[in-house]
Amino acid sequence: MSRRNETLRVGVLASGRGSNLQAILDASERGEIPARVVVVLSDREEALALQRARDRGIPAIWVNPKAFPDKAAYEETLLSHLREHGVGLVALAGYMRLVGPTLLRAFPHRIMNIHPALLPAFPGLHAQRRALEHGVKVAGCTVHFVDEGVDTGPIILQAAVPVLEDDTEETLAARILEQEHRIYPQAIRLFAQGRLIVEGRRVRISPEES
Ligand code: GRF
Repeated sequence: MSRRNETLRVGVLASGRGSNLQAILDASERGEIPARVVVVLSDREEALALQRARDRGIPAIWVNPKAFPDKAAYEETLLSHLREHGVGLVALAGYMRLVGPTLLRAFPHRIMNIHPALLPAFPGLHAQRRALEHGVKVAGCTVHFVDEGVDTGPIILQAAVPVLEDDTEETLAARILEQEHRIYPQAIRLFAQGRLIVEGRRVRISPEES
Protein backbone atom coordinates (compact mmCIF):
# COMPACT_ATOMS: atom_id res chain seq x y z
CA MET A 1 0.00 0.00 0.00
CA SER A 2 1.20 3.47 -0.70
CA ARG A 3 1.29 6.01 2.06
CA ARG A 4 -1.21 8.83 2.03
CA ASN A 5 -0.28 11.97 0.11
CA GLU A 6 2.28 10.08 -1.91
CA THR A 7 1.72 9.63 -5.62
CA LEU A 8 1.48 5.96 -6.45
CA ARG A 9 3.83 4.89 -9.25
CA VAL A 10 2.03 2.56 -11.64
CA GLY A 11 3.62 0.22 -14.18
CA VAL A 12 1.27 -0.94 -16.95
CA LEU A 13 1.62 -4.20 -18.88
CA ALA A 14 -0.31 -4.24 -22.16
CA SER A 15 -0.37 -6.27 -25.36
CA GLY A 16 -2.64 -4.30 -27.67
CA ARG A 17 -4.94 -1.36 -28.21
CA GLY A 18 -4.35 0.24 -24.81
CA SER A 19 -7.69 1.97 -24.31
CA ASN A 20 -7.66 1.08 -20.60
CA LEU A 21 -4.15 2.47 -20.35
CA GLN A 22 -5.50 5.64 -21.97
CA ALA A 23 -8.31 5.87 -19.42
CA ILE A 24 -5.79 5.57 -16.58
CA LEU A 25 -3.51 8.19 -18.17
CA ASP A 26 -6.44 10.58 -18.65
CA ALA A 27 -7.74 10.13 -15.09
CA SER A 28 -4.25 10.71 -13.73
CA GLU A 29 -3.76 13.80 -15.87
CA ARG A 30 -7.10 15.21 -14.73
CA GLY A 31 -5.94 14.79 -11.14
CA GLU A 32 -8.68 12.26 -10.36
CA ILE A 33 -6.33 9.61 -9.02
CA PRO A 34 -3.27 10.10 -6.82
CA ALA A 35 -1.28 7.89 -9.17
CA ARG A 36 0.75 8.22 -12.31
CA VAL A 37 1.92 5.76 -14.93
CA VAL A 38 5.72 5.72 -14.91
CA VAL A 39 6.43 2.90 -17.35
CA VAL A 40 4.55 0.81 -19.93
CA LEU A 41 5.84 -2.62 -20.88
CA SER A 42 4.58 -4.78 -23.71
CA ASP A 43 5.24 -8.26 -25.02
CA ARG A 44 4.23 -7.02 -28.49
CA GLU A 45 6.34 -4.56 -30.42
CA GLU A 46 3.39 -3.18 -32.42
CA ALA A 47 1.08 -2.66 -29.41
CA LEU A 48 -0.74 0.65 -29.73
CA ALA A 49 -0.39 0.94 -25.95
CA LEU A 50 3.35 1.61 -26.39
CA GLN A 51 2.58 4.46 -28.77
CA ARG A 52 0.02 5.97 -26.40
CA ALA A 53 2.67 6.02 -23.66
CA ARG A 54 5.32 7.53 -25.93
CA ASP A 55 2.88 10.26 -26.94
CA ARG A 56 2.80 11.26 -23.28
CA GLY A 57 6.57 11.03 -22.86
CA ILE A 58 6.28 7.93 -20.68
CA PRO A 59 8.95 5.22 -21.05
CA ALA A 60 7.47 2.49 -23.26
CA ILE A 61 9.44 -0.69 -23.61
CA TRP A 62 8.92 -3.76 -25.76
CA VAL A 63 10.22 -6.86 -24.02
CA ASN A 64 10.27 -9.73 -26.49
CA PRO A 65 9.37 -12.98 -24.70
CA LYS A 66 11.00 -14.96 -27.50
CA ALA A 67 14.37 -13.48 -26.58
CA PHE A 68 14.42 -15.42 -23.29
CA PRO A 69 14.91 -19.12 -22.54
CA ASP A 70 11.83 -19.30 -20.29
CA LYS A 71 9.05 -17.33 -18.63
CA ALA A 72 11.05 -16.73 -15.44
CA ALA A 73 13.87 -15.06 -17.36
CA TYR A 74 11.38 -12.96 -19.33
CA GLU A 75 9.63 -11.85 -16.15
CA GLU A 76 12.96 -11.08 -14.43
CA THR A 77 13.51 -8.50 -17.16
CA LEU A 78 10.01 -7.06 -16.71
CA LEU A 79 10.74 -6.92 -13.00
CA SER A 80 13.99 -5.05 -13.44
CA HIS A 81 12.21 -2.39 -15.51
CA LEU A 82 9.42 -2.12 -12.94
CA ARG A 83 11.95 -1.79 -10.10
CA GLU A 84 14.05 0.70 -12.00
CA HIS A 85 10.99 2.93 -12.24
CA GLY A 86 10.03 2.48 -8.58
CA VAL A 87 6.66 0.90 -9.39
CA GLY A 88 4.30 0.31 -6.47
CA LEU A 89 1.38 -1.14 -8.44
CA VAL A 90 1.33 -3.17 -11.64
CA ALA A 91 -1.80 -2.76 -13.78
CA LEU A 92 -2.47 -5.32 -16.49
CA ALA A 93 -4.41 -3.67 -19.29
CA GLY A 94 -5.10 -6.11 -22.08
CA TYR A 95 -1.94 -8.06 -21.24
CA MET A 96 -2.38 -11.41 -22.99
CA ARG A 97 -0.06 -13.57 -20.87
CA LEU A 98 -0.51 -15.44 -17.66
CA VAL A 99 1.54 -13.81 -14.91
CA GLY A 100 4.08 -16.22 -13.42
CA PRO A 101 5.53 -16.69 -9.94
CA THR A 102 8.44 -14.31 -10.57
CA LEU A 103 6.18 -11.26 -10.83
CA LEU A 104 3.55 -12.52 -8.39
CA ARG A 105 6.13 -12.97 -5.63
CA ALA A 106 7.65 -9.57 -6.28
CA PHE A 107 4.26 -7.80 -6.17
CA PRO A 108 1.97 -9.65 -3.74
CA HIS A 109 -1.56 -8.18 -4.03
CA ARG A 110 -0.02 -5.40 -6.03
CA ILE A 111 -0.94 -6.61 -9.51
CA MET A 112 -4.40 -5.74 -10.86
CA ASN A 113 -6.23 -6.85 -13.98
CA ILE A 114 -9.37 -5.79 -15.82
CA HIS A 115 -11.57 -8.47 -17.33
CA PRO A 116 -14.61 -7.91 -19.61
CA ALA A 117 -17.03 -10.17 -17.72
CA LEU A 118 -18.68 -10.44 -14.34
CA LEU A 119 -16.25 -12.94 -12.82
CA PRO A 120 -16.31 -15.76 -11.93
CA ALA A 121 -18.42 -16.09 -15.10
CA PHE A 122 -16.54 -16.24 -18.38
CA PRO A 123 -12.87 -16.09 -17.41
CA GLY A 124 -10.29 -16.29 -20.22
CA LEU A 125 -10.57 -15.28 -23.85
CA HIS A 126 -13.59 -13.96 -25.80
CA ALA A 127 -15.57 -13.28 -22.63
CA GLN A 128 -18.07 -10.94 -24.30
CA ARG A 129 -18.82 -13.38 -27.15
CA ARG A 130 -19.25 -16.26 -24.72
CA ALA A 131 -21.57 -14.21 -22.50
CA LEU A 132 -23.72 -13.34 -25.49
CA GLU A 133 -23.79 -16.92 -26.75
CA HIS A 134 -24.72 -18.14 -23.29
CA GLY A 135 -27.72 -15.85 -23.31
CA VAL A 136 -27.01 -13.83 -20.19
CA LYS A 137 -29.18 -10.75 -19.65
CA VAL A 138 -26.57 -8.86 -17.65
CA ALA A 139 -22.90 -8.63 -18.56
CA GLY A 140 -20.10 -6.41 -17.27
CA CYS A 141 -16.52 -6.13 -16.17
CA THR A 142 -14.33 -6.86 -13.17
CA VAL A 143 -11.15 -5.39 -11.71
CA HIS A 144 -9.37 -7.95 -9.58
CA PHE A 145 -6.04 -8.69 -7.98
CA VAL A 146 -4.02 -11.18 -9.96
CA ASP A 147 -3.13 -14.60 -8.63
CA GLU A 148 -1.69 -17.66 -10.35
CA GLY A 149 -4.99 -18.59 -12.06
CA VAL A 150 -6.76 -17.24 -15.13
CA ASP A 151 -8.89 -14.31 -13.91
CA THR A 152 -9.38 -15.96 -10.50
CA GLY A 153 -7.94 -13.43 -8.03
CA PRO A 154 -9.83 -11.42 -5.37
CA ILE A 155 -12.43 -9.08 -6.87
CA ILE A 156 -11.99 -5.34 -6.28
CA LEU A 157 -14.78 -3.69 -8.32
CA GLN A 158 -17.42 -4.79 -10.81
CA ALA A 159 -19.81 -2.95 -13.10
CA ALA A 160 -22.86 -4.43 -14.82
CA VAL A 161 -24.42 -3.54 -18.16
CA PRO A 162 -27.61 -4.87 -19.78
CA VAL A 163 -27.46 -7.20 -22.76
CA LEU A 164 -29.84 -5.81 -25.39
CA GLU A 165 -31.95 -7.83 -27.82
CA ASP A 166 -30.04 -6.74 -30.91
CA ASP A 167 -26.54 -6.87 -29.39
CA THR A 168 -23.63 -8.22 -31.35
CA GLU A 169 -20.28 -9.11 -29.81
CA GLU A 170 -19.05 -5.65 -30.89
CA THR A 171 -21.90 -3.60 -29.43
CA LEU A 172 -21.82 -5.51 -26.16
CA ALA A 173 -18.02 -5.21 -25.93
CA ALA A 174 -18.27 -1.44 -26.50
CA ARG A 175 -20.87 -1.05 -23.74
CA ILE A 176 -18.68 -3.05 -21.35
CA LEU A 177 -15.55 -1.13 -22.36
CA GLU A 178 -17.14 2.15 -21.33
CA GLN A 179 -17.51 0.72 -17.82
CA GLU A 180 -13.96 -0.67 -17.87
CA HIS A 181 -12.66 2.83 -18.47
CA ARG A 182 -14.61 4.03 -15.46
CA ILE A 183 -13.86 1.35 -12.87
CA TYR A 184 -10.18 0.70 -13.62
CA PRO A 185 -9.06 4.22 -12.65
CA GLN A 186 -11.45 4.02 -9.69
CA ALA A 187 -9.81 0.79 -8.45
CA ILE A 188 -6.36 2.33 -8.82
CA ARG A 189 -7.55 5.35 -6.87
CA LEU A 190 -8.76 3.12 -4.02
CA PHE A 191 -5.46 1.26 -4.00
CA ALA A 192 -3.48 4.51 -4.02
CA GLN A 193 -5.51 5.75 -1.07
CA GLY A 194 -4.64 2.57 0.84
CA ARG A 195 -8.31 1.62 1.05
CA LEU A 196 -8.22 -1.93 -0.33
CA ILE A 197 -7.94 -4.59 2.36
CA VAL A 198 -7.61 -8.16 1.13
CA GLU A 199 -9.16 -10.74 3.45
CA GLY A 200 -8.91 -14.12 1.79
CA ARG A 201 -11.02 -13.92 -1.35
CA ARG A 202 -12.74 -10.74 -0.28
CA VAL A 203 -11.47 -7.23 -0.82
CA ARG A 204 -12.84 -4.84 1.75
CA ILE A 205 -13.03 -1.17 0.76
CA SER A 206 -12.45 1.08 3.73
CA PRO A 207 -14.24 4.43 3.89
CA GLU A 208 -12.57 7.57 2.66
CA GLU A 209 -10.94 9.64 5.36
CA SER A 210 -12.28 13.14 5.53
C1 GRF B 1 -10.25 -5.18 -22.42
O1 GRF B 1 -11.53 -5.60 -22.83
C2 GRF B 1 -9.87 -5.81 -21.12
O2 GRF B 1 -10.95 -6.04 -20.27
C3 GRF B 1 -9.28 -7.13 -21.56
O3 GRF B 1 -8.60 -6.85 -22.76
C4 GRF B 1 -9.15 -5.69 -23.37
C5 GRF B 1 -8.06 -4.71 -23.51
O4 GRF B 1 -8.44 -3.55 -24.20
N1 GRF B 1 -8.43 -7.68 -20.52
P1 GRF B 1 -7.47 -2.31 -24.24
O5 GRF B 1 -6.12 -2.81 -24.78
O6 GRF B 1 -7.33 -1.76 -22.86
O7 GRF B 1 -8.11 -1.34 -25.19
